[in-house]
Amino acid sequence: MSVSLPEQLPARSAPRKLATGVNPYAPAQARIMRVQDLTSEIRLFDLRFTDAALAESFNFRPGQFVELSVLGVGEGPFSLPSSPTRRGMFQLGIRRAGTLTNYLFDHVIEGDFVGIRGPLGNGFPVELFEGQDVLLVAGGLGMVPLRGLLHYLIDQRDRFGRVMLLYGTRTPDQVLFREELESLARRGDAEILLSVDNAQGKPWGGRVGVVTELLDQVSFDVTNTYAIACGPPVFYKFMLEKLVARGFGRHRIFLSLERRMECGIGKCGHCAVGYTFTCLHGPVFSYWDAINLPELIYT
Ligand SMILES: Cc1cc2nc3c(=O)[nH]c(=O)nc-3n(C[C@H](O)[C@H](O)[C@H](O)COP(=O)(O)OP(=O)(O)OC[C@H]3O[C@@H](n4cnc5c(N)ncnc54)[C@H](O)[C@@H]3O)c2cc1C
Ligand code: FES
Repeated sequence: MSVSLPEQLPARSAPRKLATGVNPYAPAQARIMRVQDLTSEIRLFDLRFTDAALAESFNFRPGQFVELSVLGVGEGPFSLPSSPTRRGMFQLGIRRAGTLTNYLFDHVIEGDFVGIRGPLGNGFPVELFEGQDVLLVAGGLGMVPLRGLLHYLIDQRDRFGRVMLLYGTRTPDQVLFREELESLARRGDAEILLSVDNAQGKPWGGRVGVVTELLDQVSFDVTNTYAIACGPPVFYKFMLEKLVARGFGRHRIFLSLERRMECGIGKCGHCAVGYTFTCLHGPVFSYWDAINLPELIYT
């Protein structure tokens, strides 16, 4: 009898050198090229490294993140909602949360400079997805890292099978990248279903209900599909159960998990859960790997 082993993400050791510099603590300078409000609390920043060679060569894997710093204010990890298939610029989608992000909202404008270290973390195992169908499921701000993966899949459309996105937010005005997603769906690049918990009487062409209900609207071949989930802890609680109930093997489900991080390079221990360092071994885990570390998923 042949036994197929779950796919494993490669083990990582602390990076000695990042694309942004030989010293992994030293940020490279990047300029804010454009700032757009996605919602009242989430802002999209377009950035470009001031070093032209770095700007063009900066490569990363969808699902990786960078550390953004402002001198005298602080530093924090942020996922990349843009794709490495589009060089020269990269984007960050940032929500107001505290000291650093409030500063970014209140004081940083187009033309200003920030520090960037990265790329960091493991990212999604995109090689596994080649020739396979890919189902992205996002809740709330979870759309930020999945948008980078979505662009990556669409920019190389012939390398992948069906690309599906199920995305839910609380209300219509919290849907990130709404126009772009509707346009991708119209073009047939991806099958996209949106839902909100409550339409609040606003114009809304999508479904009303929790995002897990969207899974009932789609059929898929679970032997040929990878599911990629990203959202808040409550989203995982219901979505993971439902994906497994729909027949997905736990090794075919990948999650992006955010812990409190400081250094991002496996030195400070802030992100550790047992022997797992989320900044190095994650933030992407297969459900198979994460299931024995429930505090990784649900806190
Ligand atoms: C891998 C990864 C990817 C991420 N990607 C994104 C992204 O794409 N977009 C995004 O908006 N955010 C993202 N985050 C979260 C983001 O890093 C934080 O929101 C940000 O660093 C907060 O910084 P701040 O200085 O603005 O907030 P802080 O001042 O640090 O406060 C943030 C919140 O945490 C609380 N807090 C502060 N210190 C502690 C503490 N010691 N213990 C418990 N709670 C505390 C505060 O009260 C506040 O509610 C990501 C996090 C990780 C780990
Ligand atoms: S954030 Fe420092 S070890 Fe992971």
